[in-house]
Amino acid sequence: MDYSEKEVFECGHAEIVNFLPEIGLDTAVTEIITGLRASPKRISSKYFYDKTGSELFEKITRLVEYYPSRTEKVILEELTLDEVTDCRDVDIIELGSGDHSKISLLLEKVPAGLLPGIRYFPVDISRPALESSIRELTCMFPELEVQGIVADYFHQMHLVPGGRKKLFCFLGSTIGNLEREEASAFVGDISDAMEPGDGLLIGFDRVKDTAVLERAYNDAEGITARFNLNILNVVNSLITSDFKPVDFNHRAFYNRELRRIEMHLEAGSDVRVKSLFAEEEMLIRKGERIHTESSHKFEESDIRTLAETAGLVVKNIFSDEREWFSLVQYGKEG
Ligand code: AVJ
Repeated sequence: MDYSEKEVFECGHAEIVNFLPEIGLDTAVTEIITGLRASPKRISSKYFYDKTGSELFEKITRLVEYYPSRTEKVILEELTLDEVTDCRDVDIIELGSGDHSKISLLLEKVPAGLLPGIRYFPVDISRPALESSIRELTCMFPELEVQGIVADYFHQMHLVPGGRKKLFCFLGSTIGNLEREEASAFVGDISDAMEPGDGLLIGFDRVKDTAVLERAYNDAEGITARFNLNILNVVNSLITSDFKPVDFNHRAFYNRELRRIEMHLEAGSDVRVKSLFAEEEMLIRKGERIHTESSHKFEESDIRTLAETAGLVVKNIFSDEREWFSLVQYGKEG
């Protein structure tokens, strides 16, 4: 069901279009049960983000140990939109926009006279997140034309607007959650939606000292542990199960060979779990792990390989001094 609604916000109005088919629950149940029956067990990291999970992630981004969000913002603060696109009459499509904190760092520096020519399309799977982000944005930039798109952008790339020059943005190193092959397929899909002259900006967390990486996912306050354990509450509500988070321990470590942080939940004792959607009780043995997230880290060669497989060119790599994080500008040539 697609429908489009004009929403009125305090400081203006914006269109929000819904392209999300309402089949979500069935697919989620099947996916979660399959993952829990698999060996090794897994739960997709997309289930982290219920209300509590989103609040915990927000806390994570402010932790001293968690450098990625902060470092990406430093780079965005230094960058101007006209370094990555011609800002006259451009459509900015932000995939997985979440809050507007990243894009507004670019919009802030656009000369006021150019704002009316820019259209901003935040795309997110969460309608509440889109609404609150648009509410704030329309107050900050009343001249900006905003159209929110509720969609699963991994599978609905064809929904992007046509006709004007486009700048796709995929920030926050969300790309790290994808397996390497999935990431190249996804960048390939974006590339297919691009015309010559269009641009793509991706945020990448870089390979660095293992201790720095591991500290970022094992903070002293235990916020990341709570974030990881909270996925069991999300699972409980989706598949009507009785996981008790206290039965599990947070584990996060760097996998050197695959260049990624892995997060797991490790059973502290033999754990039995029932679900309304599973006939048999599940047994998770003491020490057995459920893989909940991979957060891939990128070498410059990974960044260049992505371009080659997707038919794009690397135009610029903007990094902080320590090269802990990079914003990469890809272009599509004619
Ligand atoms: C939102 C996917 C970028 O991988 O670093 C933070 C999520 N997981 N701490 C990341 C996360 C644990 C984060 N991303």
